[in-house]
Parts: sequence; C-alpha cells; structure tokens
Amino acid sequence: MTALVEAEGLEKRFPLVRSVAEVFRRDEKLAIHAVDGVSLTIDPGETLGLIGESGSGKTTLGWLIARLSDPTAGTIRFRGEDVTHLSGTALRRWRRSIQVVFQDPVGSLDPRMRVWEIVSEPLRAQEGLPKSELRARVAALLPTVGLPPDCVDQYPHEFSGGGRQRLGVARALSVQPELIVLDEPTSALDVSVQAQILNRLVQLQRDRHVAYLLITHNVGAVRYVADRVAVMYLGKLAEVGDVRAVLERPVHPYTKALLAALPVADLGRRHTIYKVTGEVPTLLHPPPGCRFAGRCPFVIERCRVEEPLLRTFGEGGGHLVACHRAEEVADVRPETLRAAAPVAPAPATA
Ligand SMILES: Nc1ncnc2c1ncn2[C@@H]1O[C@H](COP(=O)(O)OP(=O)(O)O)[C@@H](O)[C@H]1O
Ligand SMILES: [Mg+2]
Repeated sequence: MTALVEAEGLEKRFPLVRSVAEVFRRDEKLAIHAVDGVSLTIDPGETLGLIGESGSGKTTLGWLIARLSDPTAGTIRFRGEDVTHLSGTALRRWRRSIQVVFQDPVGSLDPRMRVWEIVSEPLRAQEGLPKSELRARVAALLPTVGLPPDCVDQYPHEFSGGGRQRLGVARALSVQPELIVLDEPTSALDVSVQAQILNRLVQLQRDRHVAYLLITHNVGAVRYVADRVAVMYLGKLAEVGDVRAVLERPVHPYTKALLAALPVADLGRRHTIYKVTGEVPTLLHPPPGCRFAGRCPFVIERCRVEEPLLRTFGEGGGHLVACHRAEEVADVRPETLRAAAPVAPAPATA
C-alpha cells in the first residue's frame, strides 16, 4: 500500500533575527532547529498521534506536512508524488487534500463573517461557486459535525468553544481532504466537550476514511483515537509505533518519563500536562549526542557523544526507537522512573 504521506528527513530552521545573531558574532548561521530530520509515514484513513512537550516542534512539523510552511530540507510525498516544491496553482489545487484545524480555528477569523462564509472558505478558494450553492453545501455539512443546518447565517461569537471547534472541523471537511492535521483541537475545551468532539472525529473518520495527524498534550485522547503514535523531543522523533505498544510498553526513556508524569490520562478525566525535570538543551546549540542525555536516568557515555538514530525495535518492524540502550531499558516500567528521576506533574487543567 502506498502511504498517504511520506516525510523524509524533514528539517525546519528558523534563522535568528540579525540583531540577535550579531550578539554571537562568531556564529553567523545561528538558527532554531525546530524540526531536525524527521521521517514518518501516515497511511490512508489512519490516525497518527503526535505527542511531546511544548516547544518540541509538533506544530512546525504539522505545518510542514500541510505545506503551510516550506521545509529547510527533506521531502514530502503525497500518494507517492513529491509535493515538496509545489507552488502556485498546483499547490492551491493540492491544498484541498490536506486541511489543518487549529486550537481555536474560528476565533482568529473576522467576527463579522457568517457561518456559511467561514465554513465555505476553503471551498471558495477552490471553485467559483455561487453564494446560494455555498450556503446549501454548508447547511448540508453542518449536521455531520453535530450542528443544525439552520445556523448558516449565525456569527462565530454565538457559539461555545466546542461549537466553534465543530465549525473548524466542518470547514476542514468542506473540501473532502484525505488528511486533517488537528493541532491541539480540544485543549481549550471542557472535558465533556472534548469527548464529544473526539467521538465526532472518530465517527467522521469511519464515514469518510479521512486520515488524522492528531497533535496533542492529551495522552488519553491519543490512546482513545490514534492507531499509531509518534513521540517528539526537541525537533526529533524519539519513538514511533502502535498506540498500544508505545503507551503500554514505552521503550524510549523520554516516552517513559512523559507517561510517568501522567498518572491518569484517561478520557473523561482531567488530564495532567506532563513535565519532565532536568536540563533542557537549547534548540540553538543541540548537544552532539542524544538530546535527552542531560535528563535521562539511563545515560551512558556513548549517549553524550553519538546521536542515536531511529531504528526498528523488536519484532514486526513497526516499532521505532531512537535510543542506544533500547533493548536494555525496554522492560523498565515508567512508574519506577518516577522515583529515579522525580517528575513533577503540572496542575491539572480542564
Ligand atoms: N515562526 C517561528 N520563528 C521562530 N521560531 C519558531 C517559529 N515557530 C516555532 N518556533 C520555535 O520552534 C520550536 C518548536 O515550536 P513548535 O513547533 O510550536 O513546538 P510545539 O508545537 O511542539 O509546542 C520552538 O522553540 C519555537 O519557539
Ligand atoms: Mg504547538
């Protein structure tokens, strides 16, 4: 089967503004390595969860995959076709294949726009349809996200947070994409509303065979919705695999630490935002070896000098881990790690 999306060696560097760079006179190419050599695939109709601490590069990676931002290096193939350098009309036409839903997708829009205008925006960018046709299409689409068709003429401020998120999903669906990048889609919502939105997303995926890249802090949501999960740390993937395998038997010490800081992360409960203690290296001067070495309870000398590559772990080939000591540490339970390297859970957020 051809993968829907195949990213290879993706990199994104954000150069520092000159005035700041000048402070470090000797280093002219000072840049933040937000995404640093990421390779992954997304299959048609599957959900890939993407987790990792804030600042690890998840949003940047989502933008690269949706071609909202140009990679510094690497390639993106979509159904086998190289789309890395698409531009102009070809890029616009391809855009309907991948849509992005942000945390508050409607909040950033003009408050004077009506629902039909908001939801039909990607559609209007594609085809020259008359207003009556757009309104009719939006009215037909709204029930699929659990909103009544007669709210087409309402304004975004008349909706709750969950309602606005539904509008964002409807907007993404309007062009029948094959992949939707969901960037923290439920983080701003009450727990009960989160569950409703996630259920709706699951339903829509069954009906429409759309793939999701679900970027989230909420490990419970990933466990509930995702088929596979990718764990990102400082611009690189630490571990990738089936949700069951990774969340029930995490191999990478960083994944273990993430899960250890999350005592209860089940859907319907308040989730804790994870926090791992220890020194966080900067993205300006990543250390030469493993990026997690400074915080890792299993660190050995090799980790500080040689960067671990993402490699197959165990049987089957679907589980990838970037750790020199993967085989040795695989059976260490996350809970025992809590005592070894105390992790402080942040206050629970709704
Ligand atoms: N437009 C930008 N310009 C400069 N730095 C950026 C930009 N966008 C993101 N970054 C930096 O890239 C890193 C990764 O950010 P981001 O992708 O937002 O992480 P996450 O979504 O995991 O929180 C962070 O250090 C962030 O400050
Ligand atoms: Mg983000």
